[in-house]
Amino acid sequence: MPASRWHMGWEDIMHWLEEDAAWQEAIMPFLHRILNRTKGEDQDNASETPQGPEPQAPEILEIPILPLRGTVVYPQTGTPLTVGLPRSIRLVDDVLANDRRLGLVASKKPELEDPAPEDLYDIGTIASIHRLFRAPDGTVRLLVQGQQRMRVLEYIQTEPYFVARVEVIPEATEHSLETEALARNVREQFQAIAEMVASIPKELVASVLALEDPLQLVYTIANFQRMSLEDAQEILALDSVTEKLHKLLAILTHEAEVLELGQKIQDKARSEIEKMQREYFLREQMKAIQSELGEDDEQSAEIKTLRRKIEAAGMPEEAKEQALHELERLARLPIAAAEYGVIRTYLDWLTSLPWSEITADDLDLARAQEVLDKDHYGLEEVKERILEYLAVRKMRQERREALEARAPEDAIRHDREGAILCFVGPPGVGKTSLGRSIARAMGRKFVRISLGGVRDEAEIRGHRRTYIGAMPGRIIQALRRVGTRNPVFMLDEIDKLVFDFHGDPASALLEVLDPEQNTEFRDHYLEVAFDLSQVLFITTANDLDNIPAPLRDRMEIIPVSGYTENEKVEIAKGYLVPRQIHENGLFPEEITFTDEALHTIARAYTREAGVRNLERQIGKVCRKVARQIAEGKTTHAQITADNLSDYLGRPRYYGLEEVAHRVAIPGVAIGLAWTPAGGDILFVEATKMPGSKGFTLTGSLGEVMQESAQAALSYVRSRAAQWGIPEDFFEKTDIHLHVPAGAQPKDGPSAGITMATALVSLLTEQPVKPEIGMTGEITLRGQVLPVGGIKEKILAAHRAGLTTIILPQRNQADLEDLPEQVRETMRFIFVTTADEVIQAALAAPSQHPDDENAQGAKRHA
Ligand SMILES: Nc1ncnc2c1ncn2[C@@H]1O[C@H](COP(=O)(O)OP(=O)(O)OP(=O)(O)O)[C@@H](O)[C@H]1O
Ligand SMILES: [Mg+2]
Repeated sequence: MPASRWHMGWEDIMHWLEEDAAWQEAIMPFLHRILNRTKGEDQDNASETPQGPEPQAPEILEIPILPLRGTVVYPQTGTPLTVGLPRSIRLVDDVLANDRRLGLVASKKPELEDPAPEDLYDIGTIASIHRLFRAPDGTVRLLVQGQQRMRVLEYIQTEPYFVARVEVIPEATEHSLETEALARNVREQFQAIAEMVASIPKELVASVLALEDPLQLVYTIANFQRMSLEDAQEILALDSVTEKLHKLLAILTHEAEVLELGQKIQDKARSEIEKMQREYFLREQMKAIQSELGEDDEQSAEIKTLRRKIEAAGMPEEAKEQALHELERLARLPIAAAEYGVIRTYLDWLTSLPWSEITADDLDLARAQEVLDKDHYGLEEVKERILEYLAVRKMRQERREALEARAPEDAIRHDREGAILCFVGPPGVGKTSLGRSIARAMGRKFVRISLGGVRDEAEIRGHRRTYIGAMPGRIIQALRRVGTRNPVFMLDEIDKLVFDFHGDPASALLEVLDPEQNTEFRDHYLEVAFDLSQVLFITTANDLDNIPAPLRDRMEIIPVSGYTENEKVEIAKGYLVPRQIHENGLFPEEITFTDEALHTIARAYTREAGVRNLERQIGKVCRKVARQIAEGKTTHAQITADNLSDYLGRPRYYGLEEVAHRVAIPGVAIGLAWTPAGGDILFVEATKMPGSKGFTLTGSLGEVMQESAQAALSYVRSRAAQWGIPEDFFEKTDIHLHVPAGAQPKDGPSAGITMATALVSLLTEQPVKPEIGMTGEITLRGQVLPVGGIKEKILAAHRAGLTTIILPQRNQADLEDLPEQVRETMRFIFVTTADEVIQAALAAPSQHPDDENAQGAKRHA
């Protein structure tokens, strides 16, 4: 109950009054009247309120004492009080029946409901009750007006309420400059406070400021101002008005400072919040304006577009869910947030992938054959494989329902729709361009990425989105570029992947190329699965050995080997020449190449498995002719074998002549090597000198090749007698075996018989027949074992002009792969022992007067 009036500030009073309109109506005029020092009769007509003049108090009098809880009542002020205790109500009733006067004394212990005399301050105020109002809850509300200060001398009665003998204490009201100055300061501070505290009614403030009597000023302001009970009591107890003003001024100043500081804190907090919210409000405003105009703001327009794109992208459930989820996040973010851009880019990626874009395959086999033939000469095997693939697709498509009805039981296996072909072969044989042609034949789109130099798994599979600047990997990028989910996808140069500490790009590729996994390829950036199973993957490589075995396993290897001279000329006539003529701005009637000229370019100006240099040389001729025509020197050029050097300079290769020159000396034999560039011939040279260092090997030979050389030497030593080599020869002589031709590392066992031949040739001083090339592994006991790469090796020998090849017997079957022309023009000698090799390879003993090595060797023998 509000009976306990803890010390109230003006705000509390106002609040209290607001609760009760009638009470307020009564009190306001009363307060004004007091403030305006309205004297005389109280004009209030309330029947309960007794009326009469304010009697003048004698110096000493006996008077009922009403203890106050938490408040002090001052003379010359009006104060509302609430009384609830029965004894206090009784007191009020008795006082009303007498002269309406009572003593009001504050309790030192406001927490006590019923204080004892010793709990009360001595000094209080004599007041008269002006108005009384009985509330429905039984409490009584009073308006009292303070009259004079008093001091309690002694309590003469405690029951039913306190009665005390009191003396009136006069006020000391000095009128000095100091009081005047203090009073002015007090007014100013009060005004300042009133301005900061909105709840003080302005008209009351005006009345207070108009008070001239310093004493009334002190009491009135102290009555309104929130302060501690001790301060309030002190203001009452101080005798001098100057001191009272000092005290009050200190309180007001402190209060004003606190209020001001509070306001500053509030202002600062507000301005910070305002700054933060300013942009927000502006945006909201902009949104409102835009929506008024029927436009979308930037963000919601973007979100709308994205939503439309998501709906239109034809994504699978998982991707769509993810996209919508991210879209929701986007909608909640402010457009300026860094993450906003990240999510938007992500959604751009998601929505621009060809989730459901698919081109219909052209399954007309006849037409496909036509396209393949039109683009490439030869390559029959490859073309056949492509046509088979198309035939299978065609069957599956046509018989779909019937096939489904009869599907095999093992449901755990995916139907392998895509195929992964791997074209392996030397450079320039048309692997890459075949891929393009296949796409054209099938009516699919074509996309190609090169894996050369790719060393990071992330290049294949992307970076997680948490990385700054993350992107999808190359697979997904290429698919977006091509715009369909079933393109012919060429992974070029898969053998040039780099393996180092950056992670394993091959394992990422495995996932791409494994039909069991690639229906659910997960790019790190996208996070959601993309189905790669409709993609026709084609990989290319020069060297099968460089492809990690697990990858190799998943691909269908299709060898594309080098071309023979005749094939090259056909390719040149059908494809390269017309293309170069066109590319160099010529008309076909302005330049002709004779077949002989093309043969010569292929033979004497290039030495390669493919046709890239051939095309380049043809291009060079075309450029020269274009210049002649442009300069008006001619209108037509006929290129023949004879005038070729006018265009291309001196020939670079001389065929068998060159070879014959080198093997004229005993101790040199020609081997055949396989290289990623398609095979080559290999000279093996042996020489001897007096000494006891034994056997030296040079020419950057790999370990296997070195062992193979040791085996060859042991074989030769074990047969020394057979060839008439003295017993002690190997103790007195150093032998050096060298394999020149670049510093290209050479390895493998296939030079075994060549090294044995070179050694025997050296020791018997019989040169090797110049037209013979050989390949085969040798055992210690002189057996010849089969080797790989026969086709490329023989093509290389053919290019170099060799006509006879010594081969292990067990490689005979490999000859089937050779083009007719090669098989027909070359002689093959199949052997099972090294003895047969030596017999076939060595020419009759011959003398070379111009050969110093041979002579020197003889001298020291
Ligand atoms: N059989 C062919 N018929 C017509 N043109 C051919 C044939 N073989 C190769 N070419 C042409 O030779 C050029 C080189 O071919 P391509 O670039 O496809 O070689 P590649 O096998 O991919 O070589 P690399 O291993 O160096 O990448 C292309 O212009 C291609 O059209
Ligand atoms: Mg290529």
